[in-house]
Amino acid sequence: MVDKNSPLPLYYQLEEQIKKTIETEELQPGDALPSERELSESYQISRMTVRQAITNLVNKGYLFREKGKGTFVSSQKFEQNLQGLTSFTEDMKARNLVPGSKLLHFEIYPADKDIRATLSLKDEELIYKIKRLRLANNEPIAVETSYLPVSLVPGLTPDILASSLYTYIENELELTIGHASQTVEAAIVDAEDQQHLHINKGVPVLLIQRETFLENGTPLELVRSSYRADRYKFKIDIERK
Ligand code: GLP
Repeated sequence: MVDKNSPLPLYYQLEEQIKKTIETEELQPGDALPSERELSESYQISRMTVRQAITNLVNKGYLFREKGKGTFVSSQKFEQNLQGLTSFTEDMKARNLVPGSKLLHFEIYPADKDIRATLSLKDEELIYKIKRLRLANNEPIAVETSYLPVSLVPGLTPDILASSLYTYIENELELTIGHASQTVEAAIVDAEDQQHLHINKGVPVLLIQRETFLENGTPLELVRSSYRADRYKFKIDIERK
């Protein structure tokens, strides 16, 4: 209910109420919002006030309008800051989301030429190829393929990969991760990843490639991740010097 004696404008109070129903998942992405008339009747406020609240929420990205159909709840995008060398698990926990991992592929084989060059490996050195589906609150967010030298990260098992790789590297192996170089580009999802990510054919993903090094400069991993572009956005703070 809205409080007509409150100094807060009625449209603002309604906005907050609708936001709460989205945040508590009473209203879920894709759900239709009650009509202006229904809202104005149930909250006992004018349609103008209702319209103002809805317009504000559309402008803020919480809702979207479809001509002739009504107003619907948008899917909120996960936002990740591009500064900081963080793991997927850390990124999700920082947002109060439960990180998850589903192992899709685990293999040890002699590195091929391209990977050898990136990881500065000797001929025939063994590497892991690990493909994981990464989830946030059980929702598929990214497909991640990682290559790591076996000699540097011994003892990796599917069990360990069910949780955090970086935790294993830092806490169990006591290695210090130093820096990484990362690129972000747009790509079209392939048929296999499309199924894992539950997205439609031809939908764009954000392809992130990271090359990570230990503090002493030794290459640790080459990782290619496809993030759902409809659910994820990257943020970077920039300063004018
Ligand atoms: C991110 C990075 C990867 C890294 C992974 C580790 O997804 N892009 O380069 O391997 O985090 O995540 P976790 O420690 O959760 O397994």
